[in-house]
Amino acid sequence: MSIEEELKEQIEAPMVRLKYAFAMDVMQAKLRMMNADLTEQKSRQVIRNMSARIKTTDSIIKKLIRKGRKVCFKEAVGELNDIAGIRVVCYFCDDIYEVAEKIREQRDLRVIKEKDYVKNPKKSGYQSVHLIVGVPVTYLDKTEEVRVEIQIRSFAMDYWAELDTQMCYKKDAGQIENVEREIKAYSDVIAGVDNQMLELRRRIEKM
Ligand code: GTP
Ligand code: MG
Repeated sequence: MSIEEELKEQIEAPMVRLKYAFAMDVMQAKLRMMNADLTEQKSRQVIRNMSARIKTTDSIIKKLIRKGRKVCFKEAVGELNDIAGIRVVCYFCDDIYEVAEKIREQRDLRVIKEKDYVKNPKKSGYQSVHLIVGVPVTYLDKTEEVRVEIQIRSFAMDYWAELDTQMCYKKDAGQIENVEREIKAYSDVIAGVDNQMLELRRRIEKM
């Protein structure tokens, strides 16, 4: 059996996949509660939608190779933080921090890592707040901490990221200098409008 086939067999084992699925389900249930809590607090919806996915074995293999890691089960589970991923899309850009703070306040979750690409956008123009969260998964007498990557962004940031994924991200076109510059410029325009919409909401709230 090749190393890829061996990894595939181990990572796609039902118990492994179910552990990641369980951690994502728990996290999504918590996020729905956070949304209800924030919605009541602010008298408006905060989270617009969310989605969850498990990384495909092909992407896991590609990422291990890209990171210069050995292609094996132990490295995949130990090194990759985004095998389980949840994307949370908020209406306004300030909502991102409300959701992130609610996650930090959860006593049974451990925030392992945080990246704020809203305060510090990526060179591409990508904006989002990423949290790597450890979710306890108990089965019989054993509790394991399963890591889930949570990407939190505004509706406008999501629009940019979705189109960037279609056209540039991890694609050859993304390497062309003019294309790179143009998509970055649109990210700035969208961020500008996103902030103006926030300002407008704040003015309306004061009226
Ligand atoms: P990946 O290997 O891409 O997962 O990167 P990483 O583990 O170093 O983490 P990083 O925080 O850079 O990005 C993680 C995820 O954010 C990616 O898998 C994408 O979903 C998203 N992302 C990061 N940069 C970009 C970008 O330039 N464009 C888009 N559309 N998405 C991005
Ligand atoms: Mg990723």
